[in-house]
Amino acid sequence: MAKHKITLLPGDGIGPEVTAAVVQIIECSGVDVEWEKYFVGAEAISRFGDPLPQEVLDSILRNKVALKGPVTTPVGTGFASINVRLRKTLDLYANLRPVRSMPNIITRYEDIDLVVVRENTEDLYAGLEHEVVPGVVESLKIITERASTRIAKFAFEYARTHGRKRVTAVHKANIMKMSDGLFLKCFRKVAEEYPNIEADDRIVDNLCMQLVVNPNQFDILLLENLYGDIVSDLTAGLVGGLGVVAGANIGENGAVFEAVHGSAPDIAGQNKANPLALLQSAVLMLQHVGEMGPAKRISDAITKVLGMGPENRTRDIGGTGSTTDFTSALCEVLRKGTRATD
Ligand code: NAI
Repeated sequence: MAKHKITLLPGDGIGPEVTAAVVQIIECSGVDVEWEKYFVGAEAISRFGDPLPQEVLDSILRNKVALKGPVTTPVGTGFASINVRLRKTLDLYANLRPVRSMPNIITRYEDIDLVVVRENTEDLYAGLEHEVVPGVVESLKIITERASTRIAKFAFEYARTHGRKRVTAVHKANIMKMSDGLFLKCFRKVAEEYPNIEADDRIVDNLCMQLVVNPNQFDILLLENLYGDIVSDLTAGLVGGLGVVAGANIGENGAVFEAVHGSAPDIAGQNKANPLALLQSAVLMLQHVGEMGPAKRISDAITKVLGMGPENRTRDIGGTGSTTDFTSALCEVLRKGTRATD
């Protein structure tokens, strides 16, 4: 029996290509995985009449871990976003996005290594809006002690288990004294349980300015849903954009690791897709299931391959290679057991 059973959702467009590449790289790293593969999205609709069949949810609940490729969300068909459904149904309350600088991905900054932790279930994203009278609309911002406390615990636990030194809570409690005030109060209370990890806070507008001026000063950022949505894309931009960063949605019922980019129908089936973002998510997934060694080896191999010639990386990040060129280069490095620092 394989050591790990993981639900695999290849998705649409470039999804099957990038997931196949990542599955191959994980195999090359020596981790023993049995994949339970399911269709989601358009393919699942045509086969089962539902873009997210119950058996997919059951599989994730059973295995507790899923790797997911991007899924096309058709416009104007009433087909609800699978990502939102997955997050809500499984209560995946923590969104995790580590960002780090990589060789040959040219950006304005060097040596960035920070982690964004975003609360995934409430805030203005609860979608509670209504028209009070014609011309006046109210949108409710929901912040609870329970959700604020559990996300703060998640951030500090992540810091503790990943050797991080500081968690910075981001808020606008000077204006939203009750809602953001509660978020901050819960953060400070949880921080008392972690005396070895530094805890501080920033007002969100100041944080955005500081991220542009000196992003290297931050370690872990902890944010409510809406600020987290915006700041996590900002931080992705600091290291090369959505095509190169990992994403994970984690809760007590399971964890879904995915690329944050879309299904890129314009390049699907052409061996041009970059598997890097999904691979970075797979590194997080391996850490999550306790495979720290292979996760580090893949991470080192990414650094090594990106530092090699342009034929080993895809065109979207300035290379001349294909999906399979990148995949083969990574597997080659992994098989040789070569470390990035060699
Ligand atoms: P997109 O991210 O699919 O594509 C934007 C541009 O980036 C395109 O030029 C594409 O070729 C390029 N690109 C994206 N990922 C790439 C990769 N791995 N390698 C190389 N190039 C890459 O965004 P778009 O076009 O707005 O959305 C297409 C579809 O994807 C839509 O149906 C959208 O709803 C869905 N989508 C799904 C997401 C998910 O499942 N997590 C997230 C975002 C969009």
